[in-house]
Amino acid sequence: MSTNLLGLARGADATDVILTGDRPTGPLHLGHYAGSLRSRLALQGHCAQTLLIADLQALTDLSGRAAHVAQHVPEVALDYLAVGIDPALTTITVQSRLSALSELTVLYLNIVTVARLERNPTVKAEVELRGFERDIPAGFLCYPVSQAADITAFRATLVPVGDDQIPMIEQTNEIVRRVNRLAESAILPECRALLSNTPRLPGVDGRKASKSAGNAIPLSATPDEIRRLVRAMYTDPGHTRASDPGRVEGNVVFAYLDAFDPEPIAVHELKAHYERGGLGDVALKIRLEDVLEALIAPIRARRAELSRDHAYVMEVLRAGSERAGDITEDVLRDVRGAFAL
Ligand code: TRP
Repeated sequence: MSTNLLGLARGADATDVILTGDRPTGPLHLGHYAGSLRSRLALQGHCAQTLLIADLQALTDLSGRAAHVAQHVPEVALDYLAVGIDPALTTITVQSRLSALSELTVLYLNIVTVARLERNPTVKAEVELRGFERDIPAGFLCYPVSQAADITAFRATLVPVGDDQIPMIEQTNEIVRRVNRLAESAILPECRALLSNTPRLPGVDGRKASKSAGNAIPLSATPDEIRRLVRAMYTDPGHTRASDPGRVEGNVVFAYLDAFDPEPIAVHELKAHYERGGLGDVALKIRLEDVLEALIAPIRARRAELSRDHAYVMEVLRAGSERAGDITEDVLRDVRGAFAL
């Protein structure tokens, strides 16, 4: 493992059990790559690791688009495989195929209050973002409990997530402590978040990147899409002529160069040049296009190859879910015991 990869997985040790997940709502993008796929690749082979495609969680706010969610389950699996997740080293599974997760959720719902769920800052922010107001689906309000079920069902100790998910980890640990108290024994371990050391990658317009806003660069982007999205990137509105001094802070092109350019010293020099004046946006964007094309080209090629073998992708999910089923059923047995079942 290179030093770079070790750096990405700092905070993990070989005894850690890793569980993380993604909602299958659209293709994964470069924000996912910088924020979490890279650390998953670094951890692979060093710790037991499971990736959960969280289709039931996606349904908590997309029940009206169930077919869309179902379609994206194999798409997310393809994204994982294309970036180099190896199913021999990392278990890839699907939330809805593991009935133990649903049973654990139902049990945990008895030890969590509605007031506590309403206070969860992630849920609060998402409710606002989606404009639910009073019409919050009950499943959506309760999804932190289902996420606690996901994490504990694997006895996970380390959860690589974005900083927006920290409240989920806290709420999971509260549930863990309550279950252990009921069981009068430490049947579940507490977990901690593994945060990425790169700041959250913005969308090309400088706002939060999202699949639905169309401001994210998909991992499967074509060279044309890369060019179009890089050309559209928000830079410094005050930097109208190349000779003007420009601002690096809040400049999306530099955020992407920081995240992906393999030559950080060169990027450092470019920043100084940009701030002094004399470096145009177009030259910078051309560099970024090259950097992103070099990163994405092998991912795109592998994805195209794998997408021709649907049966292989389905077999990866079947085998992963079988393995995950054994683990989660074992945990469910213990937790049922804590509830005298
Ligand atoms: N809530 C996570 C997201 O929206 C996805 C997720 C589901 C997850 N289950 C999980 C993440 C368990 C970590 C652990 O990205």
